[in-house]
Amino acid sequence: MNEQSDISAALIKALRDARHVCILTGAGVSAESGVPTFRDAQDGLWAKYKPQELATPEAFIKDPALIWRWYRWRRDLVAEANPNPGHYAIAELEQRMPRLTLVTQNVDGLHQRAGSKHVIEFHGNLFDDRCFSDRTLHTADDSLDVPTCPDCGDYLRPGVVWFGEAIPESALNDACAATTDCDVFLSIGTSSLVYPAAGLTDLASENGACVVEINPIPTTHSARFDFAIAGNAGLVLPELLESLAP
Ligand code: OAD
Repeated sequence: MNEQSDISAALIKALRDARHVCILTGAGVSAESGVPTFRDAQDGLWAKYKPQELATPEAFIKDPALIWRWYRWRRDLVAEANPNPGHYAIAELEQRMPRLTLVTQNVDGLHQRAGSKHVIEFHGNLFDDRCFSDRTLHTADDSLDVPTCPDCGDYLRPGVVWFGEAIPESALNDACAATTDCDVFLSIGTSSLVYPAAGLTDLASENGACVVEINPIPTTHSARFDFAIAGNAGLVLPELLESLAP
């Protein structure tokens, strides 16, 4: 048992016995890397900016140069950030478990940079450039305020999922399949307010998984979890990993 975080022996046993662990991460996992969350009252991006003015297809059509400026600012911010102990612990857990599926709402690529191999990017990737018309992947000419698609001439856009848009089909299918199949489901650093990602927790629970939340602030979903560990991912996850050592 661990003195610092409330990691129960029952949770450690569930993880030791697990055949398949599924992890859903949100912006809180990257907070300790200096990447702002969305809904933190002080520093969250949506406390300073309006999502409907920056994260919708309508906003892009209205002012693509503004949207590109904002996403390039976020790209620069993330490029200067580094994975934190929470990201590394998840990557290490993937090595230790018979099977681990990582579903992330984060678009920052920090899980991959920490060594996670199989990452389902539920909301896309901040560094991808996609054609606004057909979403094919291209490389933007960063000297242009608004880069264009070399195939059709339409604008390129950042490869993230905006409000009102569908989750990429393969990401949604793979995430649902893993959630349905897993024995333990960990929801880490997410406010659980954005669907369909937030619905994965219920899906896991309905299918008999042990569901666990790691978050310093209880969410509206907390009561539905089998275990809710109050703490920062960068502290709790290394402790959890240590608790699993034989
Ligand atoms: P939010 O900003 O909504 O929530 C971040 C959560 O992380 C909060 O519950 C915090 O309490 C928690 N948190 C903060 N620091 C933490 C730490 N060190 N360790 C663990 N947890 C911590 O971010 P998301 O839930 O990821 O969508 O937001 C979901 C989606 O809403 C995002 O993917 C984005 C946004 O609009 C799109 O861009 C499509």
